[in-house]
Order: sequence, then structure tokens, then C-alpha cells
Amino acid sequence: MWMEEFFKSVTFEDFLIRPHHGMLDSRKDANLTMQFSRRISIKTPIVGANMDTVTGENMMKALSLNGCFGFIHRNCSIEKEARQVAAVKRQQSFIVANPLAVGKNMPIKEAKRIVKIEKVSGLLVEESPGSGILAGILSRRDFPRDNDEKLVSEFMTPFDRLVTAKEGVSLEEAERVMYEIRKEKLPIIDENGKIRGLVTMKDLEKSKHFPYSSIDSRGRLLVGATIGATGDFMERAAAIIEAEADCVLIDIAHGDSEVMRKAVESFKAKFPNTELVCGNVGTRDGARFLADLGADAVKVGIGPGHGCRTRIETGVGVPQMQAIREAYLGVDGRVPIIADGGIEDDGEIAKAIFCGADTVMLGSMIAGTDESPGVISINPATKKQVKKYRGMTSPDAVLDRNDWENPSEILESSPAQEGQPLEIDYVGSVVPIIKRIREHLQSTVSYTGQRTLSLVHKLAVASPYDYFINKLTEAAQKESFDR
Ligand code: IMP
Repeated sequence: MWMEEFFKSVTFEDFLIRPHHGMLDSRKDANLTMQFSRRISIKTPIVGANMDTVTGENMMKALSLNGCFGFIHRNCSIEKEARQVAAVKRQQSFIVANPLAVGKNMPIKEAKRIVKIEKVSGLLVEESPGSGILAGILSRRDFPRDNDEKLVSEFMTPFDRLVTAKEGVSLEEAERVMYEIRKEKLPIIDENGKIRGLVTMKDLEKSKHFPYSSIDSRGRLLVGATIGATGDFMERAAAIIEAEADCVLIDIAHGDSEVMRKAVESFKAKFPNTELVCGNVGTRDGARFLADLGADAVKVGIGPGHGCRTRIETGVGVPQMQAIREAYLGVDGRVPIIADGGIEDDGEIAKAIFCGADTVMLGSMIAGTDESPGVISINPATKKQVKKYRGMTSPDAVLDRNDWENPSEILESSPAQEGQPLEIDYVGSVVPIIKRIREHLQSTVSYTGQRTLSLVHKLAVASPYDYFINKLTEAAQKESFDR
């Protein structure tokens, strides 16, 4: 039989991970870098779900700053999704991509006003408004006490006295130069003298607090975004790629389908160089199908999600540990696997990775945070602070995607609703949650006798019998999880 008996009809609570002789002095030394997709690796193997109550602009920024990845959801207009992608991209870990600039002939009075409103310590100055050609820098210290009618050009440090850097400058190089010239600001320009960014000492210091951040070759945060497989999906793809998404996700309920084949073929024909993730599938054949189509990562999960009613309503589904294992065997190491849905405890993330996943997508576990879209409300019965979380096919998510003029028509014409709305306890920022998951995963690596998660993943997927204790009895489950 092609799949081990061991993984049939099982999920997280059926397993424990077997400890091995430890190698690390401290669990903090464990490295968690994993391959997310063919060309992207991340330092924390967590991915934010592309749901409108989970990943918008703020969640995406927080995830990337803290070493994870995510996909901005598509339950909004094309323009809004593209705008969010662009906003994340602007938030570099240490370079301000579109710094404020004013024309050199602007009166000082106006420049003072902008500095105050925008709460910045200075401004780049350009030859003429909108030209982008760097003419100088005006810092707060340069402002005269009076003479408000005079022009910026009279007080700025002019271009010929500025030190600048080229695009692609590394964090280390930027820091070295700024210490050398004893300046707080280093403009980035291209060969034509056009402004391409700004490094500030403040941002450099801040970026040191994000040692794991997921960034591109220019130091900008990585961002993923989602499209469907029908309708205006190619328009949506064009807009988010134009906004510089690093990875596109084609996400449909049944990824092992002809609809997906057609969508991937259209996508690949137009955007052959864009990293593409496809899902969802829950079987070996489904995962192989997506890898054969050319997906750069395969997203796995049919029915485990907390807002999901697929298994109840249709009877269809694959227990998540079995689905991950099947997918692992199906893609045969060609592309990474994202295990999507059903995670309740941090230990289950390690189990997903040990049986075949490379990264794990989280929805409800991070939905009750400051960074997820939506507002905090009070549950009138429990008086607890909560946030809304809902399956993306739940009726209110479907309605939000459309206008509300004819709600019954909209619901009738959309696919069967296999998602449900829930309330999730509000838990504050997502950042401590990511930190906690990192520390728990580092402990797992330490317990299992390796230094890196990628190595223990390789060993465990190759010989699961050495790394898992399975088919726990009811008593063993009680002893393990009943708290
Ligand atoms: P969670 O981490 O258990 O909350 O699961 C999140 C996952 O649930 C998402 O990444 C989706 O794969 C899945 N999901 C989201 N909305 C729906 C839905 O309406 N029906 C079925 N599955 C859904």
C-alpha cells in the first residue's frame, strides 16, 4: 500500500512526537527556517490564512516583520486588495520606500506644517514637486525660527553636500555609512538621481528588533495575495502583481479540479515568473496534480478549518494528518506543502511539519488579535471581548463581498455555504503569539535531538516510525491533552 497504515484516518490528537537525545545547549539556538515555496524561505514556518477576518494589511505586515508569511484575502474589490499589497510593500524593514519629499521652492511655512502633520523629523527635497530628483534634505534642525516666507532651498542641505546610497544597499552597509557620516538619514537614489527610498537611523534600530523578518532582496517586506479561479481572477492577478505581490495564491475549495487546471494555465501563460501557490487539496493525487501543473507550493486541507462545515454538510474530507501525509507522498519533494486548517495547539504545528508539511497556515488561532481585520466587540452574554471569525463561504462573508441590495439573490447564486461565523476571544497583539509558537517549535527541535527544524523535518518525514507515537489510546489521549 502506498501510504503507511500509520497515517490512515488520523489527525493531530492521535499522535505524540517521540523525544530523541538532545544536542542543543539552549533551545533558543534552534533554527526554524523552512522552505515556504519553491523560491521563498521563511524563518518562522507560519502562514496567515487568506480570510477576511484574518489577513489584511496589518496582519500581513506583522507576519512578515516577524518571520512568517501570509496571503491578503480577496473578499474585497480588486483595487482594495492591490492597495493593501502596495502598502505592505512600502513598509520596508529598514528602508522607507516612498519618503515624503517637497519641492525646493516650497515656503518654509508650508514645510513646517507638513513635518508637524506627518510627524516626521525631516523631509527630502526635490528639484520640482513630483520630479523625484533629489535636491537636498531639510531636517527639523534646519528650520529658521521665523522667515517663514523664505524658501526651503535656502535652508536645506543641498545635494552636493549629501551622502547617498544606491538601491539594494544592505542594512549593514547603510548602518556603517550613517555612523561614518554621523547623520540620521541616508537617501537612496538611482543612477539618474531619482529618489528611491530613505534609510533613517530610527528605522535601522527598529529593524534590529525584527531579526527574522521575511524580506525581499531590497529589504522590503514579503507579501502574498489571493485570487480565485474564475470570473475576474486574471484582472485581480494583474493588479496585485502590479502592486508587487511576491507570491499569488489561487485558492478554491476544490483545488483538484479542471477549474484549477484552466486557471493555472491562464495564470502561467501571462505571469510565468510569479511565485504561485495553489490549493486546497486533501489527497495524494490532488497534491500531485497541483505539483504537475507547476504550483510552487501546495496548500492542503479539506474540511479541518474551524469555520468550516464541509465535512458536516457534504460528508467530504480527509483527516488533516492523513491529508498532509498523502500530499507529501504525492508531491514527492518537488514543492513545499502548506498544511492549512485545524490547528488548535502549538504542538500540532510541529506534528504537521513532522508528517510532511513545510509550513502551517493559521486562521482562528490568530483571528482574535489586534492585527486581524474587524473590530473588538463585547459578547453580551459572557461580557468577554471578542472578534468575529468566519468561514469565507459563510453567508455574511458572501454578502460582504457583494453589495447588499439583493441579499437573497446573492446567496442563491453563490455556491453552497460550507462556512460558519464564530466569535473568537480577543487576545491582544499577534506578535506574542508568534513568539510563543517560535519558542515552542524551538523546544520541539531540541526535544527531537536536532539543531534545525528543516533537518528534523527531513528525518521525520523519511522515517515517521522513529519520530511519532501513534494511535494513542483514549487513556493516553486523556493523559496527554486533558487539562
Ligand atoms: P483554522 O486555522 O482552523 O481556523 O482554519 C483556517 C482555514 O479554514 C482556512 O485557511 C481555509 O482553508 C479554511 N476555510 C476558511 N473558510 C472556509 C469555509 O467557508 N469553508 C471551508 N473551509 C474554510
